Amino acid sequence: MPSISDSDELIFFVNGRKVIEKKADPEVNLLIYLRKILRLTGTKYGCGSGGCGACTVMVSRYDPKSKKIHHYPATACLVPICSLHGAAVTTVEGVGSIKKRIHPVQERLAKCHGTQCGFCSPGMVMSIYTLLRNHPEPTPDQITEALGGNLCRCTGYRPIVESGKTFSPGATVCQMKGSGKCCMDPDERSFLSREEKMCTKLYNEDEFQPLDPSQEPIFPPELIRMAEDPHKRRLTFQGARTVWFMPVTLKDLLELKAGYPEAPLVMGNTTVGPSIKFKGEFHPIFISPLGIPELNFVEGTDNGATVGAAYSLAQLKDALDFLVSEQPKEKTKTYHALLKHLRTLAGPQIRNMATVGGHTVSRPNFSDLNPILAAGNATINVMSKEGKRQISLNGPFLEELPEANLKPGEVVVSVSIPYTTQWQFVAGLRLAQRQENAFAIVNAGMSVEFEEGTDTIKGLQMFFGSVAPTVVSAKQTCKQLIGRQWDEQMLSDACQWVLEEIRIPPEAEGGMVEYRRTLMVSLFFKFFLKVRRWLNKMDPQKFPDIPGKFVSALDDFPIETPQGIQMFQCVDPNQPQQDPVGHPVMHQSAIKHTTGEAIFVDDMPPVDQELFLAVVTSTRAHAKITSLDVSKARACPGVVDVITAKDVPGENNHRGEIFYAQSEVICVGQIVCTVAADTYAHAKEAAKQVKIAYDDIEPAIITIEQALELNSFLSPERKIEQGNVDYAFKHVDQVIEGEVHVEGQEHFYMETQSILAIPQTEDKEMVLHVGTQFPTHVQEYVSAALKVPRSRIACHMKRTGGAFGGKVTKPALLGAVAAVAANKTGRPIRFILERSNDMLITAGRHPLLGKYKIGFMNNGEIKAADVEYYVNGGCTPDESEMVVEFIVLKSENAYCIPNFRCRGRACKTNLPSNTAFRGFGFPQATVVVEAYVTAVALKCNLLPEEVKEINMYKRTSKTAYKQTFNPEPLRRCWKECLEKSSFYSRKQAAEEFNKKNYWKKRGLAVTPMKFSIGIPTASYNQAAALVHIYLDGSVLLTHGGCELGQGLYTKMIQVASRELNIPQSYVHLSETSTVTVPNALFTAGSLGTDVNGKAVQNACQILLERLRPIIKKNPEGKWKEWVAKAFEESISLSATGYFKGYQTNMDWEKEEGDAYPYYVYGAACSEVEVDCLTGAHKLLRTDIFMDAAFSINPALDIGQIEGAFIQGMGLYTTEELKYSPKGVLYSRGPDDYKIPTVTEIPEEFYITLVHSRNPIAIYSSKGLGEAGMFLGSSVLFAIYDAVTAARKERGLSNTFPLNSPATPEVIRMSCTDQFTDMIPRDDPSTYTPWSIHVS
Ligand SMILES: Cc1cc2nc3c(=O)[nH]c(=O)nc-3n(C[C@H](O)[C@H](O)[C@H](O)COP(=O)(O)OP(=O)(O)OC[C@H]3O[C@@H](n4cnc5c(N)ncnc54)[C@H](O)[C@@H]3O)c2cc1C
Ligand code: FES
Ligand code: FES
Repeated sequence: MPSISDSDELIFFVNGRKVIEKKADPEVNLLIYLRKILRLTGTKYGCGSGGCGACTVMVSRYDPKSKKIHHYPATACLVPICSLHGAAVTTVEGVGSIKKRIHPVQERLAKCHGTQCGFCSPGMVMSIYTLLRNHPEPTPDQITEALGGNLCRCTGYRPIVESGKTFSPGATVCQMKGSGKCCMDPDERSFLSREEKMCTKLYNEDEFQPLDPSQEPIFPPELIRMAEDPHKRRLTFQGARTVWFMPVTLKDLLELKAGYPEAPLVMGNTTVGPSIKFKGEFHPIFISPLGIPELNFVEGTDNGATVGAAYSLAQLKDALDFLVSEQPKEKTKTYHALLKHLRTLAGPQIRNMATVGGHTVSRPNFSDLNPILAAGNATINVMSKEGKRQISLNGPFLEELPEANLKPGEVVVSVSIPYTTQWQFVAGLRLAQRQENAFAIVNAGMSVEFEEGTDTIKGLQMFFGSVAPTVVSAKQTCKQLIGRQWDEQMLSDACQWVLEEIRIPPEAEGGMVEYRRTLMVSLFFKFFLKVRRWLNKMDPQKFPDIPGKFVSALDDFPIETPQGIQMFQCVDPNQPQQDPVGHPVMHQSAIKHTTGEAIFVDDMPPVDQELFLAVVTSTRAHAKITSLDVSKARACPGVVDVITAKDVPGENNHRGEIFYAQSEVICVGQIVCTVAADTYAHAKEAAKQVKIAYDDIEPAIITIEQALELNSFLSPERKIEQGNVDYAFKHVDQVIEGEVHVEGQEHFYMETQSILAIPQTEDKEMVLHVGTQFPTHVQEYVSAALKVPRSRIACHMKRTGGAFGGKVTKPALLGAVAAVAANKTGRPIRFILERSNDMLITAGRHPLLGKYKIGFMNNGEIKAADVEYYVNGGCTPDESEMVVEFIVLKSENAYCIPNFRCRGRACKTNLPSNTAFRGFGFPQATVVVEAYVTAVALKCNLLPEEVKEINMYKRTSKTAYKQTFNPEPLRRCWKECLEKSSFYSRKQAAEEFNKKNYWKKRGLAVTPMKFSIGIPTASYNQAAALVHIYLDGSVLLTHGGCELGQGLYTKMIQVASRELNIPQSYVHLSETSTVTVPNALFTAGSLGTDVNGKAVQNACQILLERLRPIIKKNPEGKWKEWVAKAFEESISLSATGYFKGYQTNMDWEKEEGDAYPYYVYGAACSEVEVDCLTGAHKLLRTDIFMDAAFSINPALDIGQIEGAFIQGMGLYTTEELKYSPKGVLYSRGPDDYKIPTVTEIPEEFYITLVHSRNPIAIYSSKGLGEAGMFLGSSVLFAIYDAVTAARKERGLSNTFPLNSPATPEVIRMSCTDQFTDMIPRDDPSTYTPWSIHVS
């Protein structure tokens, strides 16, 4: 290995400033470098695997050949700094800042309300900014495409896309798809309310600065000179453990590869990087040949195109686009197939980083391109010092047979993709959990060549991805079919033979075995139809077309740019101008979010002497720890200490929550010990050296079913009963029974759990900065763990990057873990969970099993319901008992069932402990209700909507727990939703569509909602605020609520501004802390604005009361003068405000109470289209009508509704947690857990805030943080409706299990047909499946 003195200087630019790194370490990635070395913390860590886009930056390179500058988005977490030599990097700080000048992209994202928590915002800015650098006037589709690699968990994407669309020429607020009509024209928009003045403008475009592309920073001339330097030489960067070679000529590359045959060529690093990070691979040497001209070209010949191996997949797409536009269609069928997949493969960042060579050589089994390249007879051109050769991709290379691999010393120089011939047809097919940025569940590349002018098969190729450890070919099948006609018999034989030839074993990794088998043949059927259609086009006389009913099976769902309208009540024109209440005020931190200047915990500068903490977690679900050996870890470089249960000075088990496992582990993912070291890399490396030996303890309970068998519960049963249920069952026309399973959900807040614990030198004080919803809880747990009074523990919380319930209890546990480490080492501890650990340790929404028995009349009237709910609580109490109470109380939803019995219980299992999640049990439980209402409808031959209408609360009534309420707003939301979504006419249109289309079906559903706010315990609703007025008139506002992205601080400023009658700009809100407001309760349950608003109002009113005599004496005076006068008169300018809380109660003995202060009502109508062959679905349109009473801030409230709806839609459709039968969570990052992206949201999305009265709450508002979540189930039921239509047509029973999530697997396997019938089935008793359901 070269010695350290051989290290060259790494030169690149960041935001126009030259960076010279004399000791560039190949193991350091750009994200770490920006955040820790350059202290540019705008670029965020969300996953570290290229899957979330939070770390997006723009990379610019100069190409000396074309003399052009190429700008592209990249995920900094996968960019080794060494690969940046000669590049210019732009981060969000380089785009604009409050200190200098904000950029139009930042301004518009903020003002269009495209940020909530703001953690994804810098990445969003960078994706839009990079697009604008390349296309200053982008089309709406380009904007949607540009955002495909960026996840946002808060907003639901609509406002983000909208902010981007403001740069599209001609794109206006008008949403009617270029119909020439305007949506705002009352004749067009029949649902504009006539009684109330409704507004639709959430921002004012006139305020936007124009985009002036000439003002963008120039590319550093020095880098142009470097790129054009004729004397460039190989560079070497020597790190602590690894060396990076950067050859500049092909000859040099071949020399290096010959010398170091094992060294990877790092191109896009999108395979090498994740393999090092997640699979523990280590490479002492890297070779980085990205800039070599012989690998960077595209060349057309008579036979096809050859593309250089260093071309990125995005460049490949551009090249193919060009060729397709130049060449006749018949020659470019392979290119068309590749282009289709290049639109959805990963996101734009990865497509711009990953290279053609890297893709073909790394041969992932899920590869989207290799099966098509193989089917299109592509070859790779390989070179070594020994010479050149070609390898066909349709040979054994893709199957990774050892003899077919690249030889040591060989590199791929290019890939040749031949043109198709006239009688050859090529297609790419795929299905993934999500349309874009998701690995395929199964994909395929297929080609067929016919004897000229006939449909006699001359050649046939089928390659499948994700069905085996490598891409595989159905060689034998294809061979056997040569000479056959392209007809039904061939189809049938092909399907049988493919299934015999490619056998997915029942226990195969990745699971979904029967589904994957079905997909193989379903995709072949699609190919069969495509070829039939194409043959018909070739010669309509000879080859009949496919049946009209089958045509829609041919194409995948198009990706459309989403659009929508948001309607809300206009502010009373008589309201004083200065009063911001009721206005769509931008989030108080929005601009800081979009410039990256908003500080999250890990953005805080290093504290002197600070250490980083890495966790060691249990790998067993239930076991005795027989030994724990930390000696090797202690000896690792940089390690200061290893912390175990023995180091906890106080309680290690506080209220049933265990900080460090002691002698026994009770779930996989339980923290056993932590390692504190000088860097996170050191801590993590050392953590791997901790050795734990276990002895399994029986039983290990994983599922609800197992817990029920073993009577394993966390809490007693809760029950509510009204009427005489047993009697009623005897007097009904029909009784049905059923079960509904709702799986759990990961919060996937974009900022992982983050804690900075700083021990103080005096009096055992400890200061913590934590991203939490409940600072008091952190204080309590830390105080218990350290055995120090709470008064010495200060917990600060400025903001957090999303929480959704996941930061109510867990930060307390993690805070205690960190505080114990800080206490032991005496040094500050930075504890930032990696995404995979966060998902593993902190768990999420409770999986639920609902069992129902329903008695009803033939007219749809439900007379009796007996429902049991069980949730999988996990291994410790957490909040499971309360979740069950909520489920039992809320689960009647909007329906009045006179004889109603509901029971619930939390199961104790050996899974990580599940916790609060937006909606707190309601979104799971109410699916069961909607499911049984739907089941009743099917039995009565009615529409579900009709049965809902029949059974819905209609007048002032009592709930099952005897609380009186008036459902008038529910009725209005329901009625308006049905009417204004044109439900019945669209339902009819869907039925017409379904008659004409066999393989695609449309479905609609309308879901009503009665959602309760708050907590049934009065003391949990109290809140306090502290308001100071300073002598310059500025006001500092503090309260006990936490800013999670929901805009609480913004609303509190609006309240203070109205109450004190001063402009919002006078009011400042800095942070929430246990120092300023003691004993504050959690910010959850949609109550944040309600309770803190009242407390702030109270404090402001106290202050104003004190100022009143002064104001009276000098009514013309100014605020500042009054404040000065008050000080002169020794009047206190500081006040505590208090809200005692809503007086709620619940008596579980009597099964009655006034459990909730009020209800939020709503209704949503969704329409979907389902592909019965693949199980994919497309959400065409959603209309939401939400009872907002009076909205304090319609922009924030609509943001909450949209964001919650999309999160709910994710829960019910794409988000699927996979557990092994032994309780190991497999889904630990964005690669294998799919939250919705911009492509999943409704193509048309209409939100209306319905006005009602709610005098009990501040300004007659309502808490809307959670309610939208459940409305996402309208998508689930619309899917169910579509699947029912498919099953009806196929003559299948219309009752089938309705479980959540309705993933593509569930949808496909419910649409039973000849393909599902032909797959081999395995006897479940003969194998152990890869994954199981835990609900
Ligand atoms: C978040 C994410 C999402 C993704 N989604 C998808 C998806 O939906 N569909 C899909 O198909 N793929 C997907 N991928 C995989 C991606 O396509 C591959 O990782 C990528 O194509 C590899 O290219 P690279 O240039 O980054 O390779 P690198 O990681 O740089 O290299 C990979 C391997 O190839 C070797 N190699 C590279 N170039 C050469 C050469 N010229 N000659 C010889 N050996 C070479 C290297 O030695 C190394 O072993 C995804 C990846 C990520 C990170
Ligand atoms: S942190 Fe880089 S993509 Fe998620
Ligand atoms: S605003 Fe996008 S993740 Fe929070």
